[in-house]
Amino acid sequence: MDKYDIIKVPDPVLKATAKAVGTVDDALRKQLDKMLVTMYDAPGIGLAANQVGMLNRVLVMDIAQREEIDTRKPIFMINPEIIWTSDEPSLWEEGCLSIPGQYAEVERPLEVRVRYIDYHGKQQEDLFEGLGSHCVQHEIDHLNGVLFIDHISSLKRNMILKKIKKQMKESEAL
Ligand code: NI
Repeated sequence: MDKYDIIKVPDPVLKATAKAVGTVDDALRKQLDKMLVTMYDAPGIGLAANQVGMLNRVLVMDIAQREEIDTRKPIFMINPEIIWTSDEPSLWEEGCLSIPGQYAEVERPLEVRVRYIDYHGKQQEDLFEGLGSHCVQHEIDHLNGVLFIDHISSLKRNMILKKIKKQMKESEAL
């Protein structure tokens, strides 16, 4: 199946705020399907619209990390909204398909409750914790133009950006 190219830093589309979706139609479902294929192919556990150059508020995720297609557990979210966060914080080493090969510990609320529209246009609410919580918060951040490196110290962020620049130069030289 057809897939998208994943956009990498420092592309400005990653800093843009995505717009709310009005209707869930076949065109949107086609985008979601294509995003899911792109995510599994990368491979990754989450992908937001900004990362494929679209600026609508949709994301796909699957933290099961399964190879077999029939045991995968994809979640499609349209207009996701965090409606509750726990007080306890959680530290997790995060990475991002738009910041290849770079990881850093990010602190976020341990649990979040998210309201969203699903693939079929129905409103849903789910509670996430641990990896799922970090993943859904990371992906919703993308829709607001925020990257995981925006949650760490500027010293670490600049180190990561420098490494990415170097990687890009090296791959261009090939
Ligand atoms: Ni990401």
